[in-house]
Amino acid sequence: MSDKVSRRQFAKIAGLSAAGMTGPLECADAMPAAVPRSAGGFPQNFLWGTATSSYQVEGAVDEDGRGTSIWDKFVRIPGKIEDGTTGDRANEHYHRYKDDIALIQQLGCKAYRFSVAWPRVFPDGDGKPNPKGLDFYNRLVDELLKNGIEPWLTLYHWDLPQSLEDRFGGWRSTETCKIFGDYAAYVAEHLTDRVKNVFTLNESGRFVYFGYGIGIDAPGLSLPQAEVNQIRHNTALAHGLAVQAVRAYGRRGTRVGPAENIDACIPAIDTPENVRAAEIALREMNAGYLNVIMTGRYTDAFLKYAGSDAPKYTDAELKIISSPVDFLGLNIYAPQHYIVASDLGAGFMPLPIPKAFPHMNSDWLRVGPETIYWVPKLAANIWKTDAIYISENGTSGDDQVMQDGKIYDTDRIMYLRNYLAQLQRATSEGVPVRGYFLWSLMDNFEWVFGLNKRFGLYHVNFDTQVRTPKLSASFYRNVIANNAAGA
Ligand code: BG6
Repeated sequence: MSDKVSRRQFAKIAGLSAAGMTGPLECADAMPAAVPRSAGGFPQNFLWGTATSSYQVEGAVDEDGRGTSIWDKFVRIPGKIEDGTTGDRANEHYHRYKDDIALIQQLGCKAYRFSVAWPRVFPDGDGKPNPKGLDFYNRLVDELLKNGIEPWLTLYHWDLPQSLEDRFGGWRSTETCKIFGDYAAYVAEHLTDRVKNVFTLNESGRFVYFGYGIGIDAPGLSLPQAEVNQIRHNTALAHGLAVQAVRAYGRRGTRVGPAENIDACIPAIDTPENVRAAEIALREMNAGYLNVIMTGRYTDAFLKYAGSDAPKYTDAELKIISSPVDFLGLNIYAPQHYIVASDLGAGFMPLPIPKAFPHMNSDWLRVGPETIYWVPKLAANIWKTDAIYISENGTSGDDQVMQDGKIYDTDRIMYLRNYLAQLQRATSEGVPVRGYFLWSLMDNFEWVFGLNKRFGLYHVNFDTQVRTPKLSASFYRNVIANNAAGA
């Protein structure tokens, strides 16, 4: 079974329901504050944030004129969502956003990454905008700013308007790319008076293959590789069109970049040969999206490997795709490939992953803290960027609610402590990572896993909608307060 498919294997959490405790960081109050560090932490002005996405938290899918997305339809296909739940209600964030922003503030976060639901703003994807949809994001942004939190907006986190899937075949058509550009222009025009940073598409590397290649994400199709490659190319084109739209319609100085689950390559052991090989591997394994965005060309090795399945494209498209970005957003979770140097092929060899390799509560989420050291370091070198943001990092956890109503998620704390220590190692060496968005603020609708995988710093009881800080919320609050991983 492939690695990507095994990501969908599912171990049920024997969840106890939350005991209804709320309030500001009860767990934190029981914790001694970390010793403030004078030196050796993260750089000054390092941006600490947390993240969510529209379909995963908003709920209110039929309210205020929102159109249908491909996920609204997909979750209703029997067997697609492991626990049979939907995002219809999710975290009711559409109505509870003020309370949720208070939770962000209690962590001490200075930034919040959220996504705009395209079908809320354009119910059919194009045509007439729905003012009530935009209003929600106006309210959200205003409330964030009122609380001293920078809004970081993602234009697309997988909730494609169903109408575009029906009329054009979704991302199969460049028509969808053009319409995405128009939608990006509209959002930029109306929100960048207050939103200074925009991510284009979240994780082409996931939603293209899972949605159109193996049918386990919306829209649930299993198309041949040539079509999948073409769709990936189309998403790169959509990214480029969105960058241009933000430049043309956004306020001067608005920054824009991708948020990609970079295929993570790590030198198996730290030798100059392996480091060089891992760098080549990182470029080649990401040749279909990030590399073409950052360089404006598909690599020879990529085109040779794809053969007759390679995407069809024009030079004009490559130019759009490689429109200069202001930062690179990297979603970093698990190590994907441990690399050694090789005399064969492109000069690298990915090693097989042993069966006993440790993972978190999600089978796919291998524990490899060094991933967040090596990947930004190699990426900065390959693509000569001076601003990288970790647009997502975090983990699912066991998250049992104990008799006292608290969640002592030492598994998540172990994961975060180790990843953040490695990130601090990177920044202390001068790797230009400028900020970090922890996935996720709170438990939410985790796509095919439904409500059974929990990634939040706050536990959510989905019956009562009560949010309870886990022990990791205190941990993260201390990290932020001390600007250091060792907290
Ligand atoms: C990232 C996504 O891939 O991983 C998030 O951007 C998602 O939206 C997170 O929630 C966890 O993934 P999963 O598949 O375990 O729910």
